[in-house]
Amino acid sequence: MSNSIIVKKRIKDFNKKIIVSGDKSISIRWLLFASLANGVSQAQNLLMSEDVLATIKAINKLGIKTSLKNNKYNVYGKGINGYKLKKNLTINAQNSGTLGRLILGLLINTPHPIKLIGDNSLSKRDFKRISDPLSKFGSKFKLKNKKNLPLILKGSSNLKPIKYLENKGSAQIKSSIIFGGMRADGITYIKAKKSRTHTELLCKYLNLPIKVKSKKNYDFIEVKKVKNIKTLNYKIPSDISSSAFFIVLTALSKNSSLLIKNVNINPSRVGIITILKKMGVKIVFKNKKIYKGEWNADIFVKSSKKLKSINCPTKLNSGAIDEFLVIFLVAAKAKGTSYFKDLAELNQKESPRLKWGARILNSIGIKTITTNNSIKIFGNPDLKINKKIIIKDYLKDHRVFMTSVIAALSFEGKSVWNIHNKDSIQTSFPNFLKIIEDLKK
Ligand code: S3P
Repeated sequence: MSNSIIVKKRIKDFNKKIIVSGDKSISIRWLLFASLANGVSQAQNLLMSEDVLATIKAINKLGIKTSLKNNKYNVYGKGINGYKLKKNLTINAQNSGTLGRLILGLLINTPHPIKLIGDNSLSKRDFKRISDPLSKFGSKFKLKNKKNLPLILKGSSNLKPIKYLENKGSAQIKSSIIFGGMRADGITYIKAKKSRTHTELLCKYLNLPIKVKSKKNYDFIEVKKVKNIKTLNYKIPSDISSSAFFIVLTALSKNSSLLIKNVNINPSRVGIITILKKMGVKIVFKNKKIYKGEWNADIFVKSSKKLKSINCPTKLNSGAIDEFLVIFLVAAKAKGTSYFKDLAELNQKESPRLKWGARILNSIGIKTITTNNSIKIFGNPDLKINKKIIIKDYLKDHRVFMTSVIAALSFEGKSVWNIHNKDSIQTSFPNFLKIIEDLKK
């Protein structure tokens, strides 16, 4: 029970400036690129969450030293072929799909079999989506139930480039293939449904041999074998996926406003902003600037009295993929019926999130209709919750926990929420609860 939290009181009347933790996608990618660079790379504001710590442990296991000095993280890269690929190596990706999937692309040349394991949630997730493309390069995979972890990867020293259609809009699949392509002789071609672009932007910033042509729904990517990666000092911006909880909290709370400093607003990540603006939330970007190829800005958001329902255009899905649970809370308070479709990927996350989104809403009296890839939410602008709500057994999905806390803090009425597994925030946003305490002061 000590690992659960009780929330009884709404939060309102705050006008504050906050800084949320570093971006998880960029932190993990920076570590992986730095581990292959020739020399020492340094990062400021690296996210210190379990997914990122698992990445550090993984590169340490591969013989790459790291250190934290004066709040700066150092990675002592040993070059593109600098990993120590010992016999009987096991990498533990813990809860991190991004680590587990991306690192496999970098290991397809391993001379000895490598085992990849993960926690209970990651072990339920699909790794066939990665072993399918990566085996086309010439590496071999053995997966539990042909789909899951643990898996064993046996690499090849004779990797052939591939042509691949990535049709799920998954940045993890796309990035894993880009990494694979960096190890194969010749040109790898990827036609990828739009998804977050951090890997490509880092490749471009590092002058790696990559070309990207952006068309309407797809990106066409060409990658050549990489011989050298230069070191990269990086100041990691804040994570829009973590900011999302506070954007929604502010939008739903009375008489409040919030400025969130220096958040990554890569156009492939800002789906939540477009969606919430369409629903009537007032959000403005301030101090927009480009840093090392990535757009960053301060995000200003205000309480929003009149919220409208949305028939969410599917082209916004991939740019908001980690934010739908909190977006559903806004739909709960909006006037009218909101419809989110073509979202089968949401059930491929740390927990089946369409199901969990519906469960949270149903527990507060909001009617939903879900299929395996869509949800209709019947909003109620007069929503008041006057009961006890327990949220548990959700595979410790960090975003289910944080969404539940935001729901508990924002809706009117006399509710008492008992939300289990508060440790789940360690996955992506360890100071989530601390920021809430600061908002209450
Ligand atoms: C991520 C990509 C997304 C996202 C995940 C992080 C990344 O997953 O949900 O939290 O850093 O590449 P998919 O690529 O499976 O959509």
